[in-house]
Amino acid sequence: MIKKITGLAATAALLIALTGCAGGDSGSSGEGDDNIVVGFSQVGAESGWRTANTTDIKSAFEDAGIELKFSDAQQKQENQIKAIRSFIQQQVDVIAFSPVVESGWDTVLKEAKDAGIPVVLTDRAVDSEDESLYVSFLGSDFILEGERAGDWVNTEFADTDQVNIVELQGTTGAAPANDRAEGFRNVVTDPKFEIIATQTGDFTRAGGKQVMEAFLKSNPDIDLVYAHNDDMGLGAIEAIEAAGLVPGQDIKIVTVDAVKDGMQALADGKINFIVECSPLLGAQLVEIVEKVVAGEDVESRIVTEETTFTQEQAIEALPDRQY
Ligand code: AHR
Repeated sequence: MIKKITGLAATAALLIALTGCAGGDSGSSGEGDDNIVVGFSQVGAESGWRTANTTDIKSAFEDAGIELKFSDAQQKQENQIKAIRSFIQQQVDVIAFSPVVESGWDTVLKEAKDAGIPVVLTDRAVDSEDESLYVSFLGSDFILEGERAGDWVNTEFADTDQVNIVELQGTTGAAPANDRAEGFRNVVTDPKFEIIATQTGDFTRAGGKQVMEAFLKSNPDIDLVYAHNDDMGLGAIEAIEAAGLVPGQDIKIVTVDAVKDGMQALADGKINFIVECSPLLGAQLVEIVEKVVAGEDVESRIVTEETTFTQEQAIEALPDRQY
């Protein structure tokens, strides 16, 4: 952990540095003192995306020689709040976390700020009005992702009169669920499009399957599934096949993420289009942490670069896909 030195201690340290006289062994800062310690609270392990994100973050910190205290919140906000409080108590140098939901963070973020520990938001945003509660937000533009899904829908169904859409939403209250819903509605505005059902599948494959089964029972005429992530789309495929229909043909599917399993389904024609959301945030997070600890300025918002995939593009990208 980096020691924060002030007042007399700082003056003594300066004298030691200038004279080179530390007095026996005690003056040696020792390797431990120079080590950066970061506390990271992860959402959980709900999806292929999340697993890839965790792996990437852990290996980036290992490569950088930075100690990472990792905590899995199992999709529960109260677990993340507990983890953040524990990181504050342990006086880590930086706290990073991916907030499971957008709201309800002000109190604990204020506690971190009062303890002098900078916080970096990773992947997901919070809705705090006080932006001084965190130093940077690194992650995707989820509204843009929803708009990209919607743009594809507009083109794909340009010659269709009436399009019945069902939506598998992400975790209720999570930034990607809120924003992907908003972005999609920003561009899918023609009255011929009707979102006939929308429900959360909690970003999980099991959730997507279960909700899609219910949608199929109560809606005989579904043209399109808009799933907020690949995992829910993959669950929907299982439900559609179990109902004797052909995913990608009888019912078209657009998803977000572009993890390997999703890309394979796209290559196989079971998903029709995927909007990428990159989980590879580790290297950029390390960079932010190093700058913050060095007292350098960091950008308050760093947007991840992403693309979209058609079937042909998925076939081409699959062999080199890292996750
Ligand atoms: O916050 C990113 C989202 O969370 C990913 O799209 C989803 O797969 C994950 O669970």
